[in-house]
Amino acid sequence: MAEISTPPSGDKRGEVGERLWAGSMTAITLLLVGVVVYTSAHWGFHPPSQVETIDSTSLHEGGEFSEANLGTVIAPDGSAVVRVVAQQYAFVPDCLVVPAGKPVTIRLASADVVHGFLVQGTNVNAMVVPGYVTTVHTMFKDPGERLMPCHEFCGVGHQAMWARVRVVEPSSFPSDANNKQKAVSCAP
Ligand code: CUA
Repeated sequence: MAEISTPPSGDKRGEVGERLWAGSMTAITLLLVGVVVYTSAHWGFHPPSQVETIDSTSLHEGGEFSEANLGTVIAPDGSAVVRVVAQQYAFVPDCLVVPAGKPVTIRLASADVVHGFLVQGTNVNAMVVPGYVTTVHTMFKDPGERLMPCHEFCGVGHQAMWARVRVVEPSSFPSDANNKQKAVSCAP
């Protein structure tokens, strides 16, 4: 019966390298999982969970995303709903005005291809897929202006597709005294 023995390793450096490699890969994996857990729990980063369909070919013909409805409407409780259309290669309106310190719901629909949008320094980051309404909920703490670029390649004009988000004090929110339900924006 042949004697079974482990082959002579003879290469301690190789073994140390293997352990270093396995250890660092485990550490990186744990770090990435930690980042996902932290951003979803602490910053409220998560994919939109609702599925709401819409006919992207007829947005302009009426309904929620017709031109007159685009922009911000303030509810009696002070919260805001912002409706935006994403299309090659602009957001309409291209300047959103929102109240600071109030719940803000942003609803987007695409008129053509897949777009994406994020608002710098906030948890707002989502894709806008034709045929679906993207809804995100957020709150802007401080007044100021933030950029909202399209972050999904949508064609040759992609890099020029972006909007601004102007956060203002609720007291200085532009409102039409005669018609509080009029959608407003800061687009020229
Ligand atoms: Cu729209 Cu990139």
